[in-house]
Amino acid sequence: MPPERIRVAVLASGRGSNMTALLDAAREPSYPAEIALVLSNNPDAPALRAAAEAGVAARAIDHRPYRGDREAHERAIDAALQQAGIGCVCLAGYMRLLTPWLTGRWAGRMLNIHPSLLPAHPGLHTHERVLEAGETRHGCTVHLVTEGMDEGPILGQATVPVLPGDTPDSLAVRVLAEEHVLYPAVLARHLAQMAAVPAA
Ligand code: GAR
Repeated sequence: MPPERIRVAVLASGRGSNMTALLDAAREPSYPAEIALVLSNNPDAPALRAAAEAGVAARAIDHRPYRGDREAHERAIDAALQQAGIGCVCLAGYMRLLTPWLTGRWAGRMLNIHPSLLPAHPGLHTHERVLEAGETRHGCTVHLVTEGMDEGPILGQATVPVLPGDTPDSLAVRVLAEEHVLYPAVLARHLAQMAAVPAA
């Protein structure tokens, strides 16, 4: 019998191209994850529509009614994750800062993808900042989520060269293509490691 697949949730706030890359990878029967749930804080996120069209349970949990009470919003997210029997969470363009409450609950089981070679350039506008700094290498990082924004142990990186004439948009396209390969590969590797070390 094939090993049981881990139920993974994707949290996305916008376009959802990394979510789609994870969904595509999980169509392969030997892939160790089943993408069982997609959540968004943004009811209008294209990611939600794409997930529903792909036949995946997709739900908005809007942060706005919580009026700045981040932990209350996260409790609703966590309840949805628990209800769906989720074992691992992938942040994919989820543009909310998380509190230590949620990151603590999912320690070692929550991954994020970021468009830079962390620890360089956490935060927004990474492509602009790489160009402004005159750097010759750029890329993306998948890391475990901890309390600090875009911090946490690095699980994998992919590098792209910065080419003469590059603009933030041209760099973004090249980095995003690498994100779509890196995230499914790193998730598979991480799930294999999680399975080898059962939770306490
Ligand atoms: C991706 O480039 C991802 O790395 C970035 O948002 C984009 C989402 O695109 N995430 C961050 O900047 C997190 N700090 P997508 O919705 O098409 O996957």
